[in-house]
Amino acid sequence: MTDAETPPSTPPGQPPERPPRQTPESRSEGHVPVLMTHVLDALTPREGDVAMDLTAGRGGHASIVAQRLGPGGRMLLVDADAGNLAFATERVRSEAQDVPVEGWHANFVDAPRLVGEAGYRADVVLADLGYASNQIDDASRGMSFRFDGPLDMRFDQTRRGATAAELVNTLPEAELAQILYEYGEERASRRIAQKIREERDQTPIETTGRLASIVVGVLGPSGGGPKVHPATRTFQALRIAVNDELGSLRSLLESVRRGAEASGGGGARRAGWLAPGARVGIIAFHSLEDRMIKRAFAELTKRRLARALSKRPMVADEDEVRANARSRSAKLRAIVLTGG
Ligand SMILES: C[S@@+](CC[C@H](N)C(=O)[O-])C[C@H]1O[C@@H](n2cnc3c(N)ncnc32)[C@H](O)[C@@H]1O
Repeated sequence: MTDAETPPSTPPGQPPERPPRQTPESRSEGHVPVLMTHVLDALTPREGDVAMDLTAGRGGHASIVAQRLGPGGRMLLVDADAGNLAFATERVRSEAQDVPVEGWHANFVDAPRLVGEAGYRADVVLADLGYASNQIDDASRGMSFRFDGPLDMRFDQTRRGATAAELVNTLPEAELAQILYEYGEERASRRIAQKIREERDQTPIETTGRLASIVVGVLGPSGGGPKVHPATRTFQALRIAVNDELGSLRSLLESVRRGAEASGGGGARRAGWLAPGARVGIIAFHSLEDRMIKRAFAELTKRRLARALSKRPMVADEDEVRANARSRSAKLRAIVLTGG
């Protein structure tokens, strides 16, 4: 279930490579948006809509969505990464010039409150979970085993929360093993956690390169499976823990439920953050997230507060997978609020 970091070109055990030379497309934007056609078909952004991109990233989805809104619409952008938010805001403003655009540097957990306080109700909500390619390709963010850098991994580097280095150097061994097992589905979680504890007792583990080589030391150079670096699952697990990615998703899904209840409920309408008939789409990259979304949306459908916009999750076709390896594990689920 690992989310797809591009397979390493450096064999495990060799020194980490330098950040890649970028293609013309990724050089300018740093990230190729996934499932674009499905996003537009499912969320049907229209003139006059208030659309929210809760994970603005490099603005790829948001720009195309915004171009459908017209001057009477509004594009609201949210990202925990201040640099990505600034980039996306500028990009959307220049590519959808007639549309009012607002950027909020925030965790999307807070977005429903912010949108309510600003007096808007969203007609379209998109969340494209996880990391953007520019973040993983930036050695200073410490998200990848492919480049040596400080073991950070926070999406929001302005917040004071724990970095990956703080987790690996301070968590009790059993707790570390639990994180690797639960968020990375790493079967060797106990052995890796034990080795991390032994190593940190000698010298604190501060870099991605050192952590990657500890994991390779435990699993062996081919211990990740075919074409998977042995440290993939460990890095994914730590990134999920550092950013509380499942907790954030849980909170977002609860807000969607509350928003659906408030926008429906025949006669008992309260002002919520979602407009009646709002379309909500979430793109997940691994099974833990996808399962949570599936269940939450199924509950809303069962209660007739929403209707699923496709029977099965929407996925990339072969052409997209060939052009963008990251799209291989992407799954979009989307609902439309039906008002109960
Ligand atoms: C997959 S990228 C989005 C890419 C975007 N759709 C595009 O087309 O460029 C995910 C983005 O979400 C941000 N992010 C992840 N979790 C977040 C959260 N809980 N709150 C706010 N932003 C988050 C990351 O910083 C990253 O920029």
